[in-house]
Amino acid sequence: MEVKREHWATRIGLILAMAGNAVGLGNFLRFPVQAAENGGGAFMIPYILAFLLVGIPLMWVEWAIGRYGGAYGHGTTPSIFYLLWKNRFAKIFGVFGLWIPLVVIIYYIYIESWTLGFAIKFLVGLVPEPPPGATNPDSILHPFKEFLYNYIGVPKGDEPILKPSIFAYLVFLITMAINVGILIRGISEGIEKFAKIAMPTLFLLAIFLVIRVFLLETANGSAIDGLNFLWTPDFEKLKDPNVWIAAVGQIFFTLSLGFGAIITYASYIKRNDDIVLSGLTASTLNEKAEVILGGSIAIPAAVAFFGVANAVAIAKAGAFNLGFITLPAIFSQTAGGVFLGFLWFFLLFFAGLTSSIALMQPLIAFFEDELKFTRRQAVLMTASIVFFSAHIVIFLNKALDEMDFWAGTIGVVFFGLVELIIFFWIFGADKAWEEINRGGIIKVPKFYYYVMRFITPLFLAVLLIVWAKEYIPKIMVETHWTIWITRFYMIGLFLFLSFLVFLAGRRKNREVG
Ligand code: TRP
Repeated sequence: MEVKREHWATRIGLILAMAGNAVGLGNFLRFPVQAAENGGGAFMIPYILAFLLVGIPLMWVEWAIGRYGGAYGHGTTPSIFYLLWKNRFAKIFGVFGLWIPLVVIIYYIYIESWTLGFAIKFLVGLVPEPPPGATNPDSILHPFKEFLYNYIGVPKGDEPILKPSIFAYLVFLITMAINVGILIRGISEGIEKFAKIAMPTLFLLAIFLVIRVFLLETANGSAIDGLNFLWTPDFEKLKDPNVWIAAVGQIFFTLSLGFGAIITYASYIKRNDDIVLSGLTASTLNEKAEVILGGSIAIPAAVAFFGVANAVAIAKAGAFNLGFITLPAIFSQTAGGVFLGFLWFFLLFFAGLTSSIALMQPLIAFFEDELKFTRRQAVLMTASIVFFSAHIVIFLNKALDEMDFWAGTIGVVFFGLVELIIFFWIFGADKAWEEINRGGIIKVPKFYYYVMRFITPLFLAVLLIVWAKEYIPKIMVETHWTIWITRFYMIGLFLFLSFLVFLAGRRKNREVG
């Protein structure tokens, strides 16, 4: 039974849209921070292994699950898992494939709006100026820190409420509107067409910035010192389990795995079209954008200006510090720095935008496929839910980190494991293998059959156990009421989505009966 469904128009469009899904703020902000925090060169070995043993196999699995579901008219996991496993629990596990992208988009889209807001401010030149002749890092960075803190309204004392500037709120509305504007045009006319413009632009911008950064040199060092730091392996650090956890976490995040978002995009692939080579190409594009481009901007620039030790300290203060404070401050010290700042934030905005539309699409697809909304209704309904929910992140300090931890860090590894078990162990390893390879321009090497069946699930299971032991006790002692509001809100969203899945099931029974 072939169900009528939207499809990607071209293979290049599909690959660029999938690469756009994966290439995001994570490549330019999260990766450099993770690498620097975890010892630079020491991080790269587990990172590459995680790419080969977790990233690539899961990528193929998600593409295959999605394409399979799409052939039956389903683009989200509650229904697709149920196709693979005729059991009520399949639907409940499937709810995570809606919940994770929904929770993540709630904060991701707000951060994305900062990049747009900063791009606008840098374009018109409304930016801080460090005191002339300042040389020590603190006095250069200070005005930029104030700038960011005023933008998002970080409280001076320890009150829990953020007071964002009106500008920040307006730009958030604009960002929502831009996302809706793309999504409402649909898969091939909206997402695919936009990716065909945005991805080449993004690569050009990034290459330009890399070249500019490579030319930086100060008394403290040069960009090359930064590259040495990132690329000189340190085998001692491999014994530290935290480095491995961080590497796998980064692979999940950057490739958008375990979110349900790749599955939804893949559901718009025709039943017999290649996924093996296309999936590999999209993943490789992401890795180039990450290690080559993402690794060659923020850290090398910070090292050139402040030396390795200071750059690591800056990275440890987090991605926002590096991307929104340090980098613009460094650029401000160079000729044409304000314009460079604009290019940097515009790059981040495009990277964020091609990802945020991918994070919204699962819920949209759910409303269309399962509740028979029109596309317009589905997009507006999804956007309203996201808009409403985002206020938690906009006004409650620390809500963002809490959501990122549960959905974006632990949740995705858990969900990745669920996908593998349902596909390879319940649906069946041989059927799954055939499903992946059907229509393939190349065949997946047999070695990966064993990786997907045994190695990846084992790896993820061990990781989850280590994690649970180490982090859950720590997280539970954090009992500020704002954290609890955030947690209850996330649970509320899960129940709401479960209810929608239940409604969809009833609706289907009525149709059949
Ligand atoms: N990969 C994106 C990045 O690097 C972030 C991301 C994670 C994402 N999961 C996603 C984007 C799901 C879209 C869909 O920034």
